Amino acid sequence: MTADRPASGTEASVDADAFKGFEMEGWENQAPTYDSFIGRLTSQLVDPLLDAASVGPEMRVLDLATGPGYAAARAAERGATVVGVDIAPSMVRLARQLHPTLEFREADAEALPFEDSSFDAAVSNFLIPHLGRHARVVSELVRVLRNDSRLSLTTWDFPERMRLLGVFLDACAEAGAAAPDDIPVGPPFFRFADDEQFIALLSDNGLSDVDVRTVSFSYHTDSADQLWEGMLTGTVRTSAFFLGQPEETRRRVRSTFDRLVLDYGRGGNFEWPVSVKLARGRKAS
Ligand SMILES: C[S@@+](CC[C@H](N)C(=O)[O-])C[C@H]1O[C@@H](n2cnc3c(N)ncnc32)[C@H](O)[C@@H]1O
Repeated sequence: MTADRPASGTEASVDADAFKGFEMEGWENQAPTYDSFIGRLTSQLVDPLLDAASVGPEMRVLDLATGPGYAAARAAERGATVVGVDIAPSMVRLARQLHPTLEFREADAEALPFEDSSFDAAVSNFLIPHLGRHARVVSELVRVLRNDSRLSLTTWDFPERMRLLGVFLDACAEAGAAAPDDIPVGPPFFRFADDEQFIALLSDNGLSDVDVRTVSFSYHTDSADQLWEGMLTGTVRTSAFFLGQPEETRRRVRSTFDRLVLDYGRGGNFEWPVSVKLARGRKAS
């Protein structure tokens, strides 16, 4: 087990139900602080995601794992009728509070509470690293899509390119952090950063015309502390991995982090390279 794949295991070692419960509880706790750092980042992928699913006026659109409702809100601005779904009740409450005119529902991606063929497009921004049963979720998304409709999904690129995550994970690895025993093991966090695996996930579960592209940009912060805080208050597996370390290891992670960040800026000006994988496919008729 390595720190760049926090609490990740092989398919056989994953208890998907325990992992889902852990993720749900984690997002429940992170909802109040999510928007201030990670949400400011994930929301930058919303337009590319909606474009990939060809979201436009008069379409009925599903935003799965909506979080605070970023993609749902933008789809509504494009003239779509949208439903945002999330497993964490506090995320759904936050989304309703931020977008009171939109529809949000609490549900598990593995069992969507919708009729077959009831959406003209479906999107999901950064749900992939938080799932225990990817094929089941993609099949559910395909089930609720009309024929010829599009699905688009994002996930983080490998930490070598997604340095915004990689710096923190490298600091954990260099400091000798090991996966705490009380975190349920999940599938490899970066599994679908691999284009072939991401394409296969969609192609093997009912989609055609599948492609994956890489979206890269840099994310500005005024300090390295903002990244540190963002990792602890806007992630689930990564923050639990760090917080489960003995105090001495946590101190070593922080001092290693303070050294590694110097490659990305100084004073009030840090630029973190971001890299994201965006996959899309069409439900075959
Ligand atoms: C990284 S956040 C992404 C939120 C939002 N889409 C965004 O772009 O910022 C992951 C979201 O997935 C939700 N989630 C995790 N597992 C889920 C599941 N099985 N079904 C539905 N939502 C789930 C979490 O509650 C959380 O809101």
